[in-house]
Amino acid sequence: MPGRLEDKVAIITGGAGYIGTAITQAFCREGARVVIADFDASKFDDMSAKLSAAERARVSFIKTDACDDTQLRSMAAQVVAEHGRIDVLVAMVGGSKDALIHKMTDEQWDQVIDLNLRSLFLSCRAIVPHMMERQYGKIVLMSSRSYLGNIGQVNYAAAKAGVIGFANSLSREMARYRVNVNAVVPGFVDNPRLANMPEKYRQMRIELNPFQTAAEPKDVAEVILFLASDEARQVTGQAIRVACW
Ligand SMILES: NC(=O)c1ccc[n+]([C@@H]2O[C@H](COP(=O)([O-])OP(=O)(O)OC[C@H]3O[C@@H](n4cnc5c(N)ncnc54)[C@H](O)[C@@H]3O)[C@@H](O)[C@H]2O)c1
Repeated sequence: MPGRLEDKVAIITGGAGYIGTAITQAFCREGARVVIADFDASKFDDMSAKLSAAERARVSFIKTDACDDTQLRSMAAQVVAEHGRIDVLVAMVGGSKDALIHKMTDEQWDQVIDLNLRSLFLSCRAIVPHMMERQYGKIVLMSSRSYLGNIGQVNYAAAKAGVIGFANSLSREMARYRVNVNAVVPGFVDNPRLANMPEKYRQMRIELNPFQTAAEPKDVAEVILFLASDEARQVTGQAIRVACW
C-alpha cells in the first residue's frame, strides 16, 4: 500500500531539532523525501545518527538560516532543481528568551519575534510561489500553547499568537491555489534541551496537559503528518491543539 506522503517532497525549516526529527521519521515512513533546512549542521549530524539507513536515504540537508531571505530563496530553488517540486512546508523554527517585561531587553523582544514570526514570513514567501504555480501544497506552522500567556513570555506569547493569525490569513490567500495552511498548537513536549528546567516549572507545564503527562515529539509529528497529507485536503486555516486543552 502506498504511504500517505508517497513521493511527496517536504521541506522542514528548523527540522534538525527534537520535534523535527520525529516529523522526519513519520514523513519517511509514509514515503516522503525530506529536506531539512536548518542553520546548524551539527544538529543534522546528531539527527542523522538517530535515523535508520532507510530513513537516511530519504533525507537531505541544506544549511539555511530561516531569518535570511537570500538563503531561503536559494534553498527553495535548489529543492525544485533537485526534486522537481515542493509539496509540503513545515516551518518549525522557533524558541524563547524569557524575562519579565520590566527586565526584557529590546534584543530579547526582537530575537523572539524574528525567530518565531519573521522566519515564518520569509519561509512562506520564498516557498509559496512554487506551490501556487503547481496549484498544490500543504503548509504547517508551529504555534504553541504559550500563546495563551505565561509569566516572562510576553515576546514568545505574542509571536506564537501571531503564528495563528498568520496561518488564518495565509490560508485565505492560498485556498484558490489548492494550498492548505494550518497551525499546530502543542502544549509541553519533552525535550532533552529542557532537562535543566527546574522540576517545579516542569510540573506546572505537565499539569496543563489534559492527561497530566508531557507529550512526546511523535504525538505532535503524527498530527503534522495528517495535516501534510491529502487526508486533510478539506482542512485549512485551523489551529490544532495537541497535548493541551
Ligand atoms: N518543545 C516544546 O515543548 C514546544 C511546545 C510548543 C511549541 N514548540 C515549538 O516547536 C518548534 C520546535 O521546537 P523543538 O523543541 O523541537 O526545538 P529545538 O530547539 O529542538 O529545534 C529547533 C531547531 O531549529 C533550528 N533553528 C533555530 N534557529 C534557526 C534559524 N534561524 N534557521 C534555521 N534553523 C534554526 C535549530 O538549529 C534546531 O535544530 C519551535 O517553534 C517551538 O517554539 C515547542
